[in-house]
Amino acid sequence: TEIFRPERENSRGWDLAHRPELDALETARDGYRDTVFTAAPLIAGDTPPGPEVQTTNPALPSDTVGRVRNASADDVQTALAAATPWTASPSERAAVLKRAAALYEDHHARLFAILAREAGKSLPDAVGELREAADFLLYYAEQAEGLTRPPRGIFTCISPWNFPLAIFTGQIAGALAAGNGVLAKPAEQTPLIGHAAIELLHEAGVPREVLQFLPGDGPTVGAALTSDPRVDGVAFTGSTETAQAIRRAMADHLSPDAPLIAETGGINAMIVDSTALPEQAVRDIVASAFQSAGQRCSALRCLYVQEDIAPAFRKMLFGAMDELRMGDPWHLSTDVGPVIDAEARDGIADYLAAAGGRVLHGLTAPQDGLFIAPSVVEVGGIRDIEREVFGPVLHLATFRPNQLDQVLADIRETGFGLTFGLHTRIDDRVQYVTERLAVGNAYVNRNQIGAIVASQPFGGEGLSGTGPKAGGPEYVARFTQPEPVATAS
Ligand code: SER
Repeated sequence: TEIFRPERENSRGWDLAHRPELDALETARDGYRDTVFTAAPLIAGDTPPGPEVQTTNPALPSDTVGRVRNASADDVQTALAAATPWTASPSERAAVLKRAAALYEDHHARLFAILAREAGKSLPDAVGELREAADFLLYYAEQAEGLTRPPRGIFTCISPWNFPLAIFTGQIAGALAAGNGVLAKPAEQTPLIGHAAIELLHEAGVPREVLQFLPGDGPTVGAALTSDPRVDGVAFTGSTETAQAIRRAMADHLSPDAPLIAETGGINAMIVDSTALPEQAVRDIVASAFQSAGQRCSALRCLYVQEDIAPAFRKMLFGAMDELRMGDPWHLSTDVGPVIDAEARDGIADYLAAAGGRVLHGLTAPQDGLFIAPSVVEVGGIRDIEREVFGPVLHLATFRPNQLDQVLADIRETGFGLTFGLHTRIDDRVQYVTERLAVGNAYVNRNQIGAIVASQPFGGEGLSGTGPKAGGPEYVARFTQPEPVATAS
């Protein structure tokens, strides 16, 4: 009998339930508890010294995590002038990317420490993130080996703070696998982990002029890198508004063929009907809405529970929420860490204050640090949610069975289409519901976060993104020259 064996295996990761493995990992990571990390431009050319800013841990304001020197306008010009595609052969590029994946894993303790202290990542989240980054490198290396088309040239990669290692690496790896040069701009909130990743990619063998790193803000760095005709394409993950601004800048300054590969926001829904297994649904809702403090673009924002089970279901959900522990993500006992910065904390706090009596349940957040307590806000439906609230805030609505079509229409109406969850034990309903929605990733009887590279390509429809899906078979090809169009002779 033949046994199915995948050609390539994803990163094994770390088994946190295995005590010796966990102890070794925590001991190694503890060595970086007080390290002050640095970030600065990594470009092929001179970068004169400039002012540094200190960054602090969102969970622990007294903890100085790093010193950051952002790229100046001159640094951006130097990098643009030096940028060059990667002329190594596809198999050489693949070998370098695979080496980088191994280096990421070798340096896991340091990377986990930066992820916790700079980005508020719990250890399970950090493990997931490093695995995903390594998987992107390995999977795109594999795609490089099969490429026949040339690269486009130079790509700008602009990544978000919520997956400052995985998405940052994924965009860069996709562009590099195809043979492009890359100008990488990390999110302003997370330059330290970006800097560490670029150093490892250079160590693996990516030439410095092929991969340059430009930390800084949107107006100085992002705008220059998306409106310079030397740039041949942009990969962006972040808000829908920023994606639209980038599209306008590209239309004005870049070649009309330059692609924008964008992954943006969503107002993701889940439907729980009366046939669902409540214990399972509650567990999956808590993970989908509150893990990573709700700071995932895939996170559940609007839960619809069938009206007849709603009172009992609410009680179970609120009970499960009461078990969540907020605090410093350095400790394994923490379930919900901080939000990313003061602006995020204040914005979400204001939103909850405005919701007033519609906040049905909320925990109490620790005083120190940038925490928002997991909260549930009552709404009539998804139409009442005006914007994506990027934090641990779950909106709750109820529906009667004869309102299902209206619920689906309302979800479609948002124009977003990233993730969707369904808990039901009616087989026909799965098809009925998913056929009526346009979402990138639909999950049935499970949580709706944490897509796995290669087996669950991730990306949205409509306002949620342009495709191709990250971690999918089409991703690297999008960074190459398009197939020449055949013309009739
Ligand atoms: N890929 C992440 C997830 O699936 C979100 O960006 O949760």
